[in-house]
Amino acid sequence: MSAAESAHLGRALCIITGASRGFGRAVALDLSRLLLPGSVLVLAARSGADLRAVEAELAGRAGLSVRSVEADVGQSEGLDGVMSACKEASSADIDHLILINNAASLGDVSRFTTGFTSLPEVDSYMSLNVSSPLCLTAGVLRAVPRRAGLRRTVVNVSSLCALRPFRSWVLYCTGKAARDMTFRVLAEEEPDVRVLSYSPGPLDTDMQREARSHTADPDIRKSFSDMFSEGQLLSCQASCAKLLKLLLEDAFTSGDHVDVYDV
Ligand SMILES: NC(=O)c1ccc[n+]([C@@H]2O[C@H](COP(=O)([O-])OP(=O)(O)OC[C@H]3O[C@@H](n4cnc5c(N)ncnc54)[C@H](OP(=O)(O)O)[C@@H]3O)[C@@H](O)[C@H]2O)c1
Repeated sequence: MSAAESAHLGRALCIITGASRGFGRAVALDLSRLLLPGSVLVLAARSGADLRAVEAELAGRAGLSVRSVEADVGQSEGLDGVMSACKEASSADIDHLILINNAASLGDVSRFTTGFTSLPEVDSYMSLNVSSPLCLTAGVLRAVPRRAGLRRTVVNVSSLCALRPFRSWVLYCTGKAARDMTFRVLAEEEPDVRVLSYSPGPLDTDMQREARSHTADPDIRKSFSDMFSEGQLLSCQASCAKLLKLLLEDAFTSGDHVDVYDV
């Protein structure tokens, strides 16, 4: 452990979107071990059953209160639900606000860029993947404003696709690039907020399965299939451990994009 590293993340209000499965679920389970008693965890996703399963796994954590919000965060009503839970929880006596913007979708990767002629389709994708993390972050930072003794951390779960074009992944690459810029601007504007875009690497999740089965571009599809068959995918837990190390050390430059392989 480095000198700057702390062994815990404080008495926190922590909000995690997409906490029902995959990387978000791993973050909920492992980050909660680093929270002090009195902390509150707000978990959001569409699947209530999966959220309840995560909640059941967290049941033994002493002093941790968990609130699950069954919501589509790409819709205004869904975001309102998460905001209500966050506002209720914000009265808790906390010293750290942690928001993990993790929910995302791959979008339709079975078509190339010229196949996207429908404005409503593209808007709907961007609503979940770009607009919702912006509006949720803005709402949460307003609901839990800056005050002495309060640390505020916002994580954007990003991707290599924010930096590099992948053929037939126009929605995902565009969304992730836009998301990174949202959080770079936030870091410029709010110097007291610690902002991190974390790229978790190729993870063994439902999203990866979708990538290797539906990607239109044969080379990209093959590279995902090869990563799977050659055992190169990371477990969510291993990648989450790197994210938690970054948060504990708190040494990143606010607004930066940090890749799992750089940690
Ligand atoms: N898998 C990878 O290789 C990889 C690589 C780089 C970056 N990432 C990023 O890592 C993050 C997690 O990915 P993952 O692989 O864990 O994905 P995943 O297995 O597809 O899980 C996505 C999570 O987001 C939730 N979600 C999706 N749409 C939602 C909506 N409209 N409203 C609320 N929640 C929604 C899902 O829950 P419900 O279905 O219950 O709503 C689920 O909990 C994403 O930001 C992804 O872009 C993944």
